[in-house]
Amino acid sequence: MTKMYSRISGTGRCLPERILTNADLAQMVDTSDEWIRTRTGIERRHIAAEDQTTTDLAEGAARQAMEVAGVAPGDIDFLVVGTTTPDVVFPNVGCLVQERLGIGGFAAFSLEAACSGFIYALSVADQFVSSGKARRALVIGAETLSRIIDWNDRSTCVIFGDGAGAVVLEPSDEPGIISTHLRADGQYKDLLYHPYGTSKKQQADDDEQPFLQMKGNEVFKVAVRRLESIVDETMATNNLERGSIDWLIPHQANLRIIQLTAKRLGMSMEKVIMTLRDHGNTSAASVPMALDVAVRDGRVNRGDLLLLEAFGGGFTWGSALIRY
Ligand code: ACO
Repeated sequence: MTKMYSRISGTGRCLPERILTNADLAQMVDTSDEWIRTRTGIERRHIAAEDQTTTDLAEGAARQAMEVAGVAPGDIDFLVVGTTTPDVVFPNVGCLVQERLGIGGFAAFSLEAACSGFIYALSVADQFVSSGKARRALVIGAETLSRIIDWNDRSTCVIFGDGAGAVVLEPSDEPGIISTHLRADGQYKDLLYHPYGTSKKQQADDDEQPFLQMKGNEVFKVAVRRLESIVDETMATNNLERGSIDWLIPHQANLRIIQLTAKRLGMSMEKVIMTLRDHGNTSAASVPMALDVAVRDGRVNRGDLLLLEAFGGGFTWGSALIRY
């Protein structure tokens, strides 16, 4: 029997209208445009409106991806959303998107892997589509990180933004998704986390606020090492030489982390899709949004070899090698 693959047949993205610039942030906390640009590479980010949820953004991205793929909502039979900022504890965002699209009767769920959420979701959907268990999958990364940020904490509030990106996956005789690589290491749970949930009882004397907590400098060091090892693994698994990737589509966390990963791969920054400047770090949404930007502006074309990678809270990290 010939091996089946899954391939991306459409991409989409959705960004909230409101833009928050570095200059705006300098009015809110003790920071400067210069510090944010030089330390992170970010100039502006989009922030969801008061009544706009992760599902709203996910739906917008999903509709665009389906339009490009030429599929109707009724053609979808698998739906997974990477998100750490769901609208509510349940129903999961996958079910909420189903309801918006007027479809149902098949598996829909969200998975929580922080900034690696889309890579994890893509890998799961690939298993279903390439094995014939699903025919058309919607894979979404969607976040409203702005809801869990302390807007008085300059060490985190300058970094994050909101958005959603989506792809449609369909079966194909040829790759498609060539390989995916997922990793996690819970021993780093205290370097990047959100202390509130539903099951952990908060104590009255807890000094932790209900906001994202990050030891940025320590996260930075582990992220660089782990991303280097996952891209090495991806290249070795597929017998690829340095310089053979057409486009690197990294998680948009920090310009310096991305530059170090590109160097490891022997790639110039012209071959790296960057949206960090305009989107900030949108967690699980950053990779699919960057892919969509590059497909729509004509840089990424059919047949190109893409390397997607991400690193986030958990820690979780992962990569996907794709013949687009
Ligand atoms: N404006 C001005 N000064 C600031 C700001 C700010 N916004 N934030 C911090 N500073 C100060 C600090 O107080 C510190 O001052 P001090 O030297 O007087 O103590 C100084 O700047 C340096 O602080 P560092 O934290 O060491 O700065 P660093 O160069 O490491 O940059 C950053 C911080 C941008 C957060 C970086 O560490 C980073 O990008 N880390 C990785 C983040 C990441 O990849 N996260 C994973 C994905 S996110 C997810 O999964 C949800």
